[in-house]
Amino acid sequence: MKAVLAYSGGLDTSCCLKLLEDMGYEVISVCVDVGLPYEELKEVEEKAKSLGVLKHYTVDAKEEFVKDYIFRAIKANAMYEGYPLSTALARPLIAKKVVEIAKKEGAEAIAHGCTGKGNDQFRFETTIRILAPEIKIIAPIRDLNLTREEEIEYAKKKNIPIPKESKKYSIDENLWGRSIEGSDLEDPKNFPSEEVYAWTKNPVEDKEEEVVEIEFKEGVPIAINGEKLNPVELIRKANEIAGKHGVGRIDIIEDRIIGLKSREVYECPGAIMLLTAHKALEQLVLTREEIKFKEIVDNLYSELIYKGLWFDPLKEDLDAFIDKTQERVEGKVWLKLFGGSVRVVGRESRYSLYSKELVSFDEKTDQKEVAGMVKYHGIQAVLYRKVTK
Ligand code: ARG
Ligand code: SIN
Repeated sequence: MKAVLAYSGGLDTSCCLKLLEDMGYEVISVCVDVGLPYEELKEVEEKAKSLGVLKHYTVDAKEEFVKDYIFRAIKANAMYEGYPLSTALARPLIAKKVVEIAKKEGAEAIAHGCTGKGNDQFRFETTIRILAPEIKIIAPIRDLNLTREEEIEYAKKKNIPIPKESKKYSIDENLWGRSIEGSDLEDPKNFPSEEVYAWTKNPVEDKEEEVVEIEFKEGVPIAINGEKLNPVELIRKANEIAGKHGVGRIDIIEDRIIGLKSREVYECPGAIMLLTAHKALEQLVLTREEIKFKEIVDNLYSELIYKGLWFDPLKEDLDAFIDKTQERVEGKVWLKLFGGSVRVVGRESRYSLYSKELVSFDEKTDQKEVAGMVKYHGIQAVLYRKVTK
């Protein structure tokens, strides 16, 4: 019996690997690369092999992640309660890759290391069930109701390396950001210590402000500071530039799918910078009515991502609307980065709906003609006052 395990090298999934063996499975581990450092991917592979997997796959999904997931998130200004959805966005892609390998290997089951408390179980399982309804899903940590302490005990018994004290947090990382949970952060009044951050400089240490130019075409970034970059390079560059100024540190109370409130810390420097720029460009080129309607669409879209419903037909329906609006989201945005903040300071587009001639207080236009429009503005409120007096 073969089981394919979505493997990250962490404590949860390493325990899963051994628990699956206990259940009588031969384990094939899969690490889907959505932006981990190369050395870390190597370590994951070595760890899987040392724990005795039948086979290990490392799947490079970086480009697909940026083009088909991150770029869609940018076009939709995707944000859930202040969280740019970095972990949430990668889960369906990871699940899709794991399903592909399970099919190729003729595996009977797919396993993941999620607990029964979080969101990732929904995202993995929903995607797996949509793409491969015939495959059995196993979630050993959840099914055995294991606590972290129990996992560590089990790990010792099975010679699984125990994470160091420095790895006390549950961390998930991909090109769109880092998520940090657990340990002392579980008390919402505890300040996050500096050590939880890896991509962003402490904002108080920022010395000098920097101006950045982001160029967009069809709603997605194509160049930074005039340099055309391929999608993966562009996201990496964005993280690097914004991270240097401490941009993108997020500390929120988040409403999980099952209704629990959780304290979440994120660092998403590139995401915050690019989303800020994208929205600024939309303000310039879309009509008021489009913006108003798109906010509703963007919210729905973000919720679908959060809930792991990436393969829901509604997502495709919304994509059709969003893609149409993005045809004109082309041009440049200038931002100033300093001390943890990102501020729009300029924008330009050939599709701009801004008319200097019409709006300027210095230009002579037919102002008088607006008087009639003003007179009727709020007419129903005027009448309401009258009849209720
Ligand atoms: N709360 C975030 C989300 O639902 C982050 C989850 C982080 N996952 C993890 N395995 N550490 O997307
Ligand atoms: C987990 O529960 O396994 C991680 C956190 C989450 O899914 O939100």
